[in-house]
Amino acid sequence: MNIAIFASGGGSNFQAIADACESGHIPGRVVLCVASRADAGVIERAERLGIPHTVLQGSSSEWTPSVLRQLHEASTQLIALAGFMKMIPKPLIQHFPRRILNIHPALLPAYGGKGMYGIHVHRAVIAAGEAESGATVHVVDEDYDTGPIVAQTRVPVLSGDTPEDLASRVLSVEHQLYPDVLRAFAEHRVRLSGNQISIDPPRP
Ligand code: GRF
Repeated sequence: MNIAIFASGGGSNFQAIADACESGHIPGRVVLCVASRADAGVIERAERLGIPHTVLQGSSSEWTPSVLRQLHEASTQLIALAGFMKMIPKPLIQHFPRRILNIHPALLPAYGGKGMYGIHVHRAVIAAGEAESGATVHVVDEDYDTGPIVAQTRVPVLSGDTPEDLASRVLSVEHQLYPDVLRAFAEHRVRLSGNQISIDPPRP
């Protein structure tokens, strides 16, 4: 399965996915890295791994045609957003229906939506006194964080946790969850019916 990864930040999820492809855990390949900013750490990681990368320029109506062309040239089958801080334009969603995933650092539908990104999410979870948080992989639709949920991993919120403590606990489970979900897609084990998604267990 040919995967394109869109990212805006350090790219630790990008790295986890690329490593899982390299080790054979995901029967797939990262064929393109799309960065929303020229100073995103993910670019250096892509360079180190020899993965083609591109940086978005201008408004979304300006970059959409060229990104679509690059995705098609790379024979992209699935797009994984990994810390991507821009809205996905409609034409991309239409070209990759139910083939764009995102990872969010909370248990959606809680703590999602506009303004709920990065450390803000973990601050809100702690302020609300939640006993647990986690990570969610979902299908991307035309709004923020609202598409059908594919899989979640839970982590405890411990007393005395700072938002940074919680962020790093959640991030470490993301590095397992996202590759596992991509593996399930690559192995055709994901069943989508309406808004309901289920994953069959790996075949022995
Ligand atoms: C992750 O916490 C992810 O859930 C969120 O952005 C962060 C990206 O981290 N959407 P990284 O750039 O993959 O290290």
